[in-house]
Amino acid sequence: MNIGVIGLGYVGMATSLAFALHRHQVIGVDRQRDKVELLIQGKLPFFERDMQEHLISLQSDGFLSFTDKLSACVCQSDILFLCVGTPTSPDGNADLQDLFRVVQDLQEIWDSCPPLNGCLLVIKSTVPVGTADIVQEMLSRYGVSVASNPEFLREGCALSDALLPSRIVIGTYDSHSRSILETLYLPFQVPKVHTSPREAELIKYASNAFLATKISFVNELARLSERLGTDIVTVAEGMGMDPRIGQSYLGAGIGYGGSCFPKDVQAIIRQAEASGERLGILERVADVNESQIEWVIRQWKRLIPDLRGKRVGVLGLAFKPGTDDLRASPALALVEAFLREGADVTAFDPLAMEAARSILPEVRFARQAIDVCEGAHAVVLATEWEPFLHLDWQTVKKVMASPVLLDGRNAWPKQELLRLGFRYAGVGRGVGQPIDETGKMG
Ligand code: UDX
Repeated sequence: MNIGVIGLGYVGMATSLAFALHRHQVIGVDRQRDKVELLIQGKLPFFERDMQEHLISLQSDGFLSFTDKLSACVCQSDILFLCVGTPTSPDGNADLQDLFRVVQDLQEIWDSCPPLNGCLLVIKSTVPVGTADIVQEMLSRYGVSVASNPEFLREGCALSDALLPSRIVIGTYDSHSRSILETLYLPFQVPKVHTSPREAELIKYASNAFLATKISFVNELARLSERLGTDIVTVAEGMGMDPRIGQSYLGAGIGYGGSCFPKDVQAIIRQAEASGERLGILERVADVNESQIEWVIRQWKRLIPDLRGKRVGVLGLAFKPGTDDLRASPALALVEAFLREGADVTAFDPLAMEAARSILPEVRFARQAIDVCEGAHAVVLATEWEPFLHLDWQTVKKVMASPVLLDGRNAWPKQELLRLGFRYAGVGRGVGQPIDETGKMG
């Protein structure tokens, strides 16, 4: 099939590459000309595992091309996937400006050059319930059908998630659109869910909101755990063994970030309000997340009460490992909190440092992980990149000014570190003093 992909961020690029890998003819369009120029040169404008190699080979094999002219993309395509961003507007609702600008541009194009017979516009962007209805209304006079097919990919494994998703949600108004999407997704051997477009739109928000709820649930429980003298890691592990609960998204820490959870939780709360319902649970989910860093810092101050003038080394800046994305990164918020406390911060991240420089002018950036430990009164794990989990602890201890480790992701080996003579605090696992050879706390 000839597939057009409108908007070349994470979702648009993963969609383009996944269909091109299935040997469809894909043309991607973005209104940012510099981004399109980079892509034409075979350069991915952001880091995402596996994408760079496929970008080059699929372009040279002729399955993938890019343009900044919407009309060029539209005229060649039987199916169009709408993948533009829907960020948060100041009132918390999803900002649909970019999406409706594209739909208006499509109207202009189709006014002068009618679409191919049976053209289908598929909305992949995360949009409030009812958006597809409005778009369908705007495009019905051209004989174009609209469908909703939300994307559940995670940054850091966006392409593999697009190729092998947990499920494919196909929200259509008519059997013709349904059969086009069924045919397109036939080679994807995963469960397919057929719904109305409104249900598909809600499935996307509800899924993200539920995952965010698991995280805030465990983060709130971490606060209780801290008071009761239990370790939230052990508690979450014990809970997660129940298959009805599951282990995933029960990692307590400095909170969720990224381009989806914070904005989608706000958007569904606002949408519910507009429809006359109150989503009290999700309001609390957002509150816990927004107050998590402040709470974590208060706990950590039991180990290092006065941060003024203290050297703090921060490991990780991206909102999670495997990406250079800093959007709504809790690691950035943590650095800002340390700066407000008067600490002198040095940071290191394997991918996100270039972008962080302009956001955090007061921070010194190190060349490698061990450099942030040099002379530090505390070293903080803010993003659990794999190499940060296996540091040479003896060397870390030797170069630090005082051996205090603050684990914002509960990913460091607490007992081993205490035995090595560190003072350790995670999130909801107590404040640990060094353990001597006899097993006694120091
Ligand atoms: C998320 C959804 O997973 C994906 O399905 C949707 O399409 C887009 O939003 P993503 O934003 O890439 O994907 O990140 P994800 O891996 O889900 O993590 C989100 C945030 O939650 C990160 O900041 C992560 O560190 C945090 N998190 C995750 C926790 O704090 N604890 C956990 O146990 C899991």
